[in-house]
Order: sequence, then structure tokens, then C-alpha cells
Amino acid sequence: MTKSLGPAARPGHINPTVVEVEGGFLNAMGLPNPGVEGYLEELRELKHWGVPVVASFFASTVEEFQSGAKALCGAGADALELNLSCPNVGGEPGMCAADVISVERVTAAVKQVAKSPVFVKLSPNVTDIVGIAVAAENGGADAITAVNTLKAMVIDADFRRPVLANVTGGLSGPALKPVALRCVWEIAEAVKVPIIGCGGVSNWRDAVEYMLAGATAVEIGTGVMYEGLEVYGKVNEGIAGYLRENGFGSVKEIVGLAHRK
Ligand code: DHB
Repeated sequence: MTKSLGPAARPGHINPTVVEVEGGFLNAMGLPNPGVEGYLEELRELKHWGVPVVASFFASTVEEFQSGAKALCGAGADALELNLSCPNVGGEPGMCAADVISVERVTAAVKQVAKSPVFVKLSPNVTDIVGIAVAAENGGADAITAVNTLKAMVIDADFRRPVLANVTGGLSGPALKPVALRCVWEIAEAVKVPIIGCGGVSNWRDAVEYMLAGATAVEIGTGVMYEGLEVYGKVNEGIAGYLRENGFGSVKEIVGLAHRK
């Protein structure tokens, strides 16, 4: 999974952009990236590693979303993830994920041109995430990623100032998990497309909880800060152990199992 790519190169926000809090991290990077075009060569190189590459991207107009999708699929992205939910960039793509009509329109426009599956990553910073998830499904999303970071802030009592230069940032890590798990649960009751759980996964138990809530897969970001890159292998092995010890033949058998009445 790449850091989100946009239509043009961006330096991002000035420091401080990351601060650790109890139960996680806040970040307000400001979507720094070399731009879709500037990243294509690296994307082609990544393809040599023999693992699927998901290109996360954002844009501010439907046309830019379409041209980004075409370029990234052309360079071999195995899937696209629309980041409609960065909490730190005003105006722009920012909170497109808060608007049912935009989410459906952008998703449908990207699906029209994308050769690879399209995931739509949603924000927890909305009143009704289920309505947004249904809009993504109606737009033709192949999967829904739930969720992006929760808007938050930290103030330093000694300096009497917000810590992040951007004032607010996105909360990730263990503190986000119960919120994200609730989002996955509610979305699972409303859509048929697969859900990718995201928020505070750092061990196999977290991943299994997301699957029981209805996720088919999970993403791990902040977990790497705590566990290192080994986290991915450890989570995979842990899930396999859980399935074996509890008599399940496949993760498919536990997806959504906690909903069973
Ligand atoms: C940023 C982007 C995100 O999608 C997010 O959840 C948090 C931070 C950023 O680049 O600022």
C-alpha cells in the first residue's frame, strides 16, 4: 500500500507532523507525495517484489481521479484505494467522504476507467458512515476500507500551544480500534461488498476481531511503529493458529461470525 498519491507533487505540512499519544499517534503529514506521475517509476519497481501493490490516491476533481486511476493501473497497480478521507487537508479532496453524492460519483467515475479493483477508504469523522458506505457500493466499489484516522488534537500545557503545526491531526493506533470496529460492524450489516478493516491492528487478535465484525482483510499502518515490519508475518501466523485451534478451515468461515444471532 503506497502513501496516498495526488495529481501534483506536494511537500506536505511543516513539522511537527507526528506526535505520540496514549494509545496511538496523531499525524498531520498533509499528504506529502511526489505526485502520481512522479511515482510511476517506483510503482513499476515495486512490481518486481512479487507481492500485490495497492496504490492509494486522492484528487480534487472527478477528471483528476480518472486520470490518476488510468496512470496507476497503467503502471501495474493491482488495486486502487481512493483516499476520500484525509482529515488534514482543507477544501481539496479533504472530506469528500462526508458527502454521499460525491462518494458515489467519484467511485463510479474511477470504476469507469480502472482496470484493477477499486477500494474506497472511508472516514470515521462523519455522522452516518453507513450511508457513505452504501454510496460507495452503489458507485461500484469492489471493497470498502474502514476506516481512516479520527480527527484529534494535542495541546502542550507548558508551551500552552497545540503540538502539531497543523493544530489537528488524525488519530491512529489502538485507541482508534473500538471506533473502527464499530464502523466495520455497522457497514457489514448494510453492504455486500468486502470490507477491509483498518485502525489499531497490531496483533492477530486485533485482526480476528475485525474479521468477526465482518472484515475480509485488514490493513496495518501504525502497528509497524510498535512491532516493526515483522508485524505482517506475525499477524498472518497468529490468524492461522487461531483458525487451527478453533477448528476453522479458512478465514472465510469467521468473516462476520459475531453477527450470528
Ligand atoms: C494524512 C492522510 C491521511 O489519510 C490520514 O488518515 C492522516 C494523515 C496526511 O497525509 O496528513
